[in-house]
Amino acid sequence: MVKVFAPGVVKLFGEHAVVYGRPALAATIDRGVYVECEKGDRLVVETVGVPASLRYFPEEKRAEALGSERFFAYIDAALRFAEELWGSLRARFTIKSDLPPGIGAATSAAVSVGVLKAYSLCAGVEVDVYSLAKLGHRVELEVQGIASPMDTAATSIGGVLKIWASPFRLERLNASLPPFYIAVLPRVGTTREIVADVKALLDRRRSAANVIEAIGSLVEEAHACLLAGDLECLGELMYMNNWLLGALGVVDGRVVTLLDMAKPFIYGGKISGAGRGGVVLLLPREGTMVERVLSSLGHVYYKVSITETGAAAV
Ligand code: MEV
Repeated sequence: MVKVFAPGVVKLFGEHAVVYGRPALAATIDRGVYVECEKGDRLVVETVGVPASLRYFPEEKRAEALGSERFFAYIDAALRFAEELWGSLRARFTIKSDLPPGIGAATSAAVSVGVLKAYSLCAGVEVDVYSLAKLGHRVELEVQGIASPMDTAATSIGGVLKIWASPFRLERLNASLPPFYIAVLPRVGTTREIVADVKALLDRRRSAANVIEAIGSLVEEAHACLLAGDLECLGELMYMNNWLLGALGVVDGRVVTLLDMAKPFIYGGKISGAGRGGVVLLLPREGTMVERVLSSLGHVYYKVSITETGAAAV
């Protein structure tokens, strides 16, 4: 039996500006997607903990899972590409996620890359991380129509990465962070819609280009602070990045309240990803107090650490 872990991904700095040619800093975390593959007599996919409602047809003794079609679309595409490349496989795939889907922590990228990696190992094939990243991106493109290569690259390669989206390029940084918190706020809108709204703002208001420019230069400063392990600097830049994202219209009142209440207990914090809810990063000074704030506000949250590796057998 093969078991693969594909990590979730947080954006430390630079989201949205990355769409306009600036680099972003992303990191893989120790929560993500587990994919098991065990050879058998037929191809079966089981999921654990993926939210879905069931519709049952008693005459046919058959159930349909509703609300998980998109999740299965990633699995479907990944299995099809894998079969084309590495031959057909009869196996049971079991997929578990320890992050809720659709929060902006790259769970769809982790599912796509995790299934591809598990399939390859089950088929006895060694795939290098860059090919895995490219294949994962093809899966996301097929399912979503558009997709940035950032998430699939990060979950394939792992660690702290500086990423340029167009033309795609990345650099692995020799950097780490102490454990931090991710709070999960219900999202208003999809990544695609939010990215389109930011583009519309940039088209309407030429001064908005300065915000993109400012995020780009902030990323360079954050890069230096990451290498130096300077948490004061990183926290301050997280706040600045967050308010710049606020100027682009993707930070709402829930995030403002959370950061305000947590302020005495954190170095800094920011949204991570497209925004309007989703993941909020909090770099703690006093972890227990941060947990109290998060609990008092009723937010789902996780304490996470950065992983060194991307999708790999565990
Ligand atoms: C979404 O996680 C990050 C964005 O920069 C979009 C993208 O890079 O495709 C908002």
